[in-house]
Amino acid sequence: MSGSESRPWNDVDAYFTALLAPADEVLTAALRDSEAAGLPPINVAPNQGKLLQLLAQVQGARRILEIGTLGGYSTIWLGRALPEGGRLISFEYDARHAEVARRNLERAGLAGKAEVRVGAALESLPKLADEHPEPFDLVFIDADKANNPHYVEWALRLSRPGTLIVLDNAVQGGRVADADSDDPGIRGTRAALDLMATHPRLSATAVQTVGSKGYDGFALARVLD
Ligand code: SAH
Ligand code: DHB
Ligand code: MG
Repeated sequence: MSGSESRPWNDVDAYFTALLAPADEVLTAALRDSEAAGLPPINVAPNQGKLLQLLAQVQGARRILEIGTLGGYSTIWLGRALPEGGRLISFEYDARHAEVARRNLERAGLAGKAEVRVGAALESLPKLADEHPEPFDLVFIDADKANNPHYVEWALRLSRPGTLIVLDNAVQGGRVADADSDDPGIRGTRAALDLMATHPRLSATAVQTVGSKGYDGFALARVLD
């Protein structure tokens, strides 16, 4: 579903966004330059970005991990939640996306806090673990959906009790409900949700969303003590 379709939720999203998550020059420029560079418009919606920012603030997050940077739009929302001395690491497979993201983060004044690491996240995650990083307070998973269960496992490994894991695109137009799907992205997302449901160290839920980015949703999982 495209954002230009005339649906009531587009009017409501426009209203909510203007009221609660208004664009500023940095966010507008990030989307403009992402589009100019030919990146797909699959960034979170502004009000979803604001939700990520609020979740990071509720967490008191000092350390954020993001899997799937694209042009850094969600990264800016999350990075703005960080206090002085806070740190965000974002993994991106595509060097071209990462380059756009770095420029956008620089313009946002976040270059000192937010780092984009290029490569397949499943190769970057073990390298990060080898650095024995302090646990992350929030992990945002938004990359290749087939690997979602692996990303949840890595998020757990890099977590502490109380860490929040946010999984984007938990609904994918409703296709997530198809238990027989052979789409790797659906199978991966279902496996990630299974893990969230059954893992003894996770408490989770999932919520459907509709708006300027169509019909989708997200899952939240909290790491237990
Ligand atoms: N979080 C961004 C959107 C990310 S789109 C936002 O809301 O603004 C998904 C991104 O994941 C794309 O840029 C894609 O190149 C990247 N990606 C795909 N497979 C990946 C992988 N294996 N490792 C890391 N990034 C990957
Ligand atoms: C797609 C990926 C996303 O992360 C998203 O938010 C929307 C769409 C996609 O690959 O189509
Ligand atoms: Mg997404």
